[in-house]
Amino acid sequence: MTPPASTATLAVPRAVERVPTARRYLMCEPTHFAIEYSINPWMDPTAPMDRDLALRQWRALVATYESLGHEVHRIDPAPGLPDMVFAANSGTVIAGRVLGARFRAPQRAPEADHYRRWFHTHGYTDITMPTATNEAEGDLVWTGDLLLAGTGFRTDPAAHPEAQEALGVPVVSLSLTDPSYYHLDVALVVLSEATPSRRAHIAYYPPAFSPGTQRALATLYPDAILATREDAACLGLNAVSDGHNVVLPLEATHLRTELATHGYTPHPVDISELRKSGGGPKCCTLELRA
Ligand code: ARG
Repeated sequence: MTPPASTATLAVPRAVERVPTARRYLMCEPTHFAIEYSINPWMDPTAPMDRDLALRQWRALVATYESLGHEVHRIDPAPGLPDMVFAANSGTVIAGRVLGARFRAPQRAPEADHYRRWFHTHGYTDITMPTATNEAEGDLVWTGDLLLAGTGFRTDPAAHPEAQEALGVPVVSLSLTDPSYYHLDVALVVLSEATPSRRAHIAYYPPAFSPGTQRALATLYPDAILATREDAACLGLNAVSDGHNVVLPLEATHLRTELATHGYTPHPVDISELRKSGGGPKCCTLELRA
């Protein structure tokens, strides 16, 4: 008897080599981190939060990146901006072009100019500041050939064509529908970027998206890793991959096993205190793509 056709697909995950590439990240120490307001369901200003522990966890995250050979740049934290640690929300950098941020919440609005100035003083000359609400890599996820662009809670749909104009890359709009997964980067992660012969390899949590977006994602990424409710609920998808090493919250045990099965090396980190603000490793990490 011939084996069922599906047997062949079982060999696929291990057949692909997961190649790491050195990355450059921009990060902001949580010196002034606090939960003073609530702009997502994770944030409870009355719940206890240990800022010293947040600082230690953030430094351990930096040390993890450095041990993997990545370069970490730092922007000075500004007093009065308790969410400035979430660097990913302040810029999208592709091929040296910078698209800045425009925050939905007035409490975070001043962060955008701090980061704009950092880009300006660090040699970036092609900087566009958006006119529509745009929370940068929180909602704009680069796959290597397409820019996946989330909307529903923070980034305005009008920011999507603006991103295409400013960055000169094709944009695909995705609709988020669950307020707990208010940014795209808490519902979807790129594990391996696209190459000329292969689409990106991603992981995502389907219930975070509208039905039409779920169908679109299944069409674009039929080989994606589908995260479980538990993976998503610890912000396990707010992970950072270099193509081989994946830094992710330690509670995401199912996702960790899946990653290993697919040829990646998981690096679990404890981000308990930043999660109380709705953030994880990726939220703290803005990637400088040249
Ligand atoms: N407290 C922050 C906010 O609600 C968390 C931002 C998380 N950042 C991210 N890239 N998902 O805006």
